Amino acid sequence: MLITKPSDIKPSEITSKSVYLSRRNFLKTSINTGIAGSVASSGILMSGNAQAAKLDNIQKSPYSTIGEDLTDYDSITTYNNFYEFGTNKEDPAKYSGQFNPKPWSIQVDGECNKPGEIGLEDLIKPHTLEERIYRLRCVEAWSMVIPWVGIPLGDILKRFEPTANAKYVAFSTIFRPDEMPGQRSRVLRWPYLEGLRIDEAMHPLSILSVGLYGEELLNQSGAPIRLVVPWKYGYKSIKSIVKISFVEKQPRTAWNDSAPNEYGFYSNVNPNRNHPRWSQKKERRIGEFLKRETLMFNGYANQVASLYEGMNLLKNH
Ligand code: MTE
Repeated sequence: MLITKPSDIKPSEITSKSVYLSRRNFLKTSINTGIAGSVASSGILMSGNAQAAKLDNIQKSPYSTIGEDLTDYDSITTYNNFYEFGTNKEDPAKYSGQFNPKPWSIQVDGECNKPGEIGLEDLIKPHTLEERIYRLRCVEAWSMVIPWVGIPLGDILKRFEPTANAKYVAFSTIFRPDEMPGQRSRVLRWPYLEGLRIDEAMHPLSILSVGLYGEELLNQSGAPIRLVVPWKYGYKSIKSIVKISFVEKQPRTAWNDSAPNEYGFYSNVNPNRNHPRWSQKKERRIGEFLKRETLMFNGYANQVASLYEGMNLLKNH
């Protein structure tokens, strides 16, 4: 995933390769335009939130990926994408210390019989926390293996009784520019939005995660609650969710809004569909030297390929 220039660029200009910059190049540019400067001058520096509370009564899950080494905790919590806190990988750990995820509630609305606002504790209470070890494959061609702690998304969604008109589920991240310095720049349109087709959301592999390595999520990882959809590129796994809407039409999503020719709605991991500016055939597992082959649906094809039967995955990307 790379960043587009800020929104003063006309869509007609966006196809030119030269208007796209790698995240690193972008940062250099953004320093000149004052975007990174707004992060650096925010006074929210280097604090992070290095302490996380332990979570109890976590059950192992048969859906966990087995036989792969876990990525170490430090890498998972210091090499992050969370643009609300800046565009460099280390920014979320450095600049998320002012973000306060407690108390937290989620608004659920749209095509369902039981809409409403629900506190995080009440959202979680009826469910058993599960450990789900999943590969996370970023569209930037790096990957990790993360022992998430979470709840099947479908089990939570069912409690709100979606109607037959609920064809999609839309998610929104909180908008708190005072606590999220990256939101003071226009690097993306805020709040960060994501969405799934309802059958994807109800699939048993989709979870809402509240922790990893047996502890609550740190701010940089999407505290207090985030989506994890392991067969899709990481940008679908929206962090710090405050709103879930059942909707009839395909919802807007942050990266598709930003660069529609590069980031589709489905965003299924697919080694046969290159990003317009780089190959997706291989990936770098964080902590390893040699590159690995990218796996179709990130290795979860047996479980999820049937969701896309008859669909042209190169077109519907
Ligand atoms: N959610 C929000 N709200 N903001 C973001 O910038 N980045 C996405 C996703 N969720 C992002 C987000 C991207 S690009 C990736 S790869 C994953 O979070 C990274 O998750 P991680 O930092 O826990 O590895």
